[in-house]
Amino acid sequence: MNDRTDARIRTDIAHNARVWNYWLGGKDNYPVDRAVGDQVTSLHPGIGEVARADRAFLGRVVTHLAAEAGVRQFLDIGTGLPTADNTHEVAQRVAPESRIVYVDNDPIVLTHARALLTSSPEGVTEYVDADAHDPEAILRAAAGTLDLERPVAVLMLGILNFVLDGDEARSIVRTLMDAVPSGSYLALTHPTDDADLGGEANVAAMEFWNAHATPPITARGRAGFARFLDGLDLLEPGIVSCARWRAPEATEVAQFGAVGRKP
Ligand SMILES: C[S@@+](CC[C@H](N)C(=O)[O-])C[C@H]1O[C@@H](n2cnc3c(N)ncnc32)[C@H](O)[C@@H]1O
Repeated sequence: MNDRTDARIRTDIAHNARVWNYWLGGKDNYPVDRAVGDQVTSLHPGIGEVARADRAFLGRVVTHLAAEAGVRQFLDIGTGLPTADNTHEVAQRVAPESRIVYVDNDPIVLTHARALLTSSPEGVTEYVDADAHDPEAILRAAAGTLDLERPVAVLMLGILNFVLDGDEARSIVRTLMDAVPSGSYLALTHPTDDADLGGEANVAAMEFWNAHATPPITARGRAGFARFLDGLDLLEPGIVSCARWRAPEATEVAQFGAVGRKP
């Protein structure tokens, strides 16, 4: 950890990457993260299940894209702290030559990034410290590792919910997907306040989060989520609770998941 990184880490306010790590059973979090995590859980008792379902979605999607769609390049934006079955491990288990670029802007993720950089000898993993609000910077950095003339799977799991303005969030997605060729993929998860997925609990939980933690978050309804996938061909089963994507028996959680292919 260098001094610059150290100075960016705040232990007096809960950070999303660390609270997400707490909900997933990890140890890379501080008392303030656990206190806020527990408060959110009291308002939204299913939140731990959301985090686990989201990671399981990542595993199924990356396995599918590597094994069946033949994708060998992954751009994982809003990576989170290293946990079990990180994107490069899932992809390189199927195809050791896979190349992965991780992107996050949380200083604690940066300090743990070396745990993400354990590539298979045939492949590459890289970590970029960048903000999702600046997709051009992400693309410039990713181009050092990924061939943007060849298909890329762009993973944005639980990250667009930190871009509060819907137009800006759509513009970020458009910039990223415009930069990759036909045959590329976009995989998304996003929390919802839609009542049919039990999303009412997100309303009070996010209000609490926004008063006590960082960065601020928003939920979106099905229509708002669907617009991120405009112009892409949706893979089966379309837009569902991320728990149910190719796991039809699973219990739904209040988080959408979908994968689109650029035609
Ligand atoms: C809910 S976690 C999701 C982690 C992982 N994608 C997953 O699905 O398990 C969101 C991650 O996005 C990161 N993040 C939040 N805002 C960001 C931003 N503006 N730029 C880059 N990363 C951001 C957080 O630091 C955190 O690691």
